[in-house]
Order: sequence, then C-alpha cells, then structure tokens
Amino acid sequence: MLSDELGKKLEERIDRDLLVKERRGRSEKGVFDKSKVMDDVLDKTTIMSLSKLINSGIISYINGVIGSGKESKIYWAVDPDGKNVALKIYLVTASTFKKRAPYLVDDPRFSHIKKGTRNLVELWAQKEFRNLTQCIKSGIPSIKPIHVLKNILVIEFVGKNGVPAKTLVETEIDENDYQDAISIITQLYKKAKLVHADFSEYNVFKTENGLIVFDLGSAVDIRHKNAREFLERDIKNISRFFVKRGLTVENPSDVFVRITK
Ligand SMILES: Nc1ncnc2c1ncn2[C@@H]1O[C@H](COP(=O)(O)OP(=O)(O)O)[C@@H](O)[C@H]1O
Ligand SMILES: [Mg+2]
Repeated sequence: MLSDELGKKLEERIDRDLLVKERRGRSEKGVFDKSKVMDDVLDKTTIMSLSKLINSGIISYINGVIGSGKESKIYWAVDPDGKNVALKIYLVTASTFKKRAPYLVDDPRFSHIKKGTRNLVELWAQKEFRNLTQCIKSGIPSIKPIHVLKNILVIEFVGKNGVPAKTLVETEIDENDYQDAISIITQLYKKAKLVHADFSEYNVFKTENGLIVFDLGSAVDIRHKNAREFLERDIKNISRFFVKRGLTVENPSDVFVRITK
C-alpha cells in the first residue's frame, strides 16, 4: 500500500537524519534545525506519530512551541480547515512519570497497566483525553479534546494567533472568579465524577467567555482511594490563591463537605 511505503520511506529518512545528527554532534545543522518542531526532545516514534496526524488530516502543520514543562511540551498547530489547535506531547523520557503512577494505578478505569515508561506516558495522554471527554460530556467548561495518538494529545486551542489565553494567575481576579472556580470543582465531582488533583491558578484560563479548566492528566475518578484527599487539596490550593489576592473565601472544609455530601 502507498501509505505503508510512505511510512517506510519516512522512517528511513528519520533514521538517516538521526544518524547524521549523531555523527555531526548537537551543534551543527541537521534536518531537525529546518523545522521549529523537530527539536531534541522528540524521539523518533513521536515524530512518526506527528506525521501520522498530518497524513490522516487531523493537523496540517505545526507552527511552533507554546510552552514546555518537565513532562510535556505544548505546540501550536493548524488543522486542515485553518483552525488553531494545540498539541500536548508527553515526553517519553520524563523520569518524573514514575511518581505519577499512583494517579493511574488506583483509578478503576485504568486497572491494567503495562510496565515501561513509553506505555505509562501513552496511557497518561489517553487518560487526559478521557478526562477531557468526560468533562465536555458533563457540560463543564474545559478544553475540548480532539484526538489522541500515543503520547500526543490534540486539543482545542484557547487563545489568539498562537498566544494562549491568560490563566487565572496572570489576570486580575474578582469574587466571581472564585465562585466560578469552586463551581468547576463542584461540577467536576458531581457531574463528571472526577477530581482534578492539580487544580490551581495555573491550570484555569480566564477568557471572555469565563473560566476554562485544563491540564487534566492527573484527574482521577471519584472512586480512586485518594480522591477525597485530592479534592480537599484542590479546594485548599485555589482558596489560598484567592486569599493571597485579597479576597474573602468560604472555609475550604465547608466547601469540601458541601461538595461531597
Ligand atoms: N489548549 C491550549 N491552548 C492554548 N494554550 C495551551 C493549551 N494547553 C496548554 N496551553 C499552554 O501550555 C501551558 C502548559 O499546559 P498544561 O496543560 O498546564 O501542561 P503542564 O502539564 O506542563 O502544566 C499552559 O499554561 C498554557 O499556556
Ligand atoms: Mg499545568
């Protein structure tokens, strides 16, 4: 088949480029320098997956890097209709993933876990996709998931011209934002049956259309044995942020009781 042949050719090309790159050393120009995307953090399998996303029409091209953390890198891409999308690529090399295992192992939705970092990382991307899907189905204002392929999550782009919308920490906030943040935590628990587990001023966009929650890789099913503990932590963390900004907030314990009763 033609697509197989293309895939094989591409793989050969990547192999060759990687070899050339290895021989030349890091400083010299190789094919990776021609593109903004083909940087050092992406391994061959990830690059293959990116090309698959392009061949299958999920995305057309990648415009650049938006941000990078220890465990993932976010890219700005464009789909065949010219619409902006974001790619969250989980880094296969991230050693920090081991410490994330408990968020997977004890979630009843992910009971069969194969060993190996790549597997864990791919599962993590799928978990975030599934969490986002659960949110959207439940009517929660979250980023819309578009596609997931191995360690690559394709999501709706929130922002303009490749610039992400501002998060709560980057904006002026008021009483309404506090209410809306607590409302999101409540809806997550009651409607989507999820606890974010990393809810903070860094993981909520403040847009013209209100707050939008994201970064749901850590989110667990409410049946997870630590779900209540994570919920308590989420409420405390976000309350602390609003207090720091001079707002009066409800007692976090009361909020916890109200949500879980
Ligand atoms: N869908 C998106 N649209 C626009 N920007 C995004 C999107 N998702 C993430 N970002 C940008 O990337 C940053 C990190 O994303 P996040 O999902 O929180 O990853 P991490 O796990 O590294 O915290 C965000 O603060 C935001 O600036
Ligand atoms: Mg984050």
